[in-house]
Amino acid sequence: MSIKSVLKMGHPTLLSKSEEVSQFDTPELHTLIGDMKDTMTYLNGAGIAAPQIGVLKRVVIFGFENNVRYPSEDSVPFTILLNPTIEPLSEDMEEGIEGCLSVPGLSGSVPRYTKIRYRGFDPEGEAIDRTVTDFHARVVQHECDHLDGILYPARIRDFSTFGFIE
Ligand code: NI
Repeated sequence: MSIKSVLKMGHPTLLSKSEEVSQFDTPELHTLIGDMKDTMTYLNGAGIAAPQIGVLKRVVIFGFENNVRYPSEDSVPFTILLNPTIEPLSEDMEEGIEGCLSVPGLSGSVPRYTKIRYRGFDPEGEAIDRTVTDFHARVVQHECDHLDGILYPARIRDFSTFGFIE
């Protein structure tokens, strides 16, 4: 597998809607996931979505033990999630700082649901069904947005929070 270049905000692919994965456990799918994993690890990402490396498929991966980009957040289990759906379990939303490998050098505060149920499939087609809160819920919402062509700056309400990290 290999490290891919990550598309940056402004590239039209990042604004496109991705297609569902129709076949699980194929060599192409495992190559895509391997490339995503290598690219995410190389860039210290908390997650990555397939369109960020130019593939318009509904595949996201996320998870970390300790992340240098989000040092104060709790760990999130490493997960490969295909064809995800998200159901908010509460109307509550919370502001929190996000960055994105496609928006390098910047961060901003984004409102996200604090408690969600998400469902989807692993690469072999086994069902995933989890109820999660807080940063885990935030990461899933951020990554799944990529599959619908939404980058986090589009969700910012208070632009005074948006700027360069350095
Ligand atoms: Ni992102």
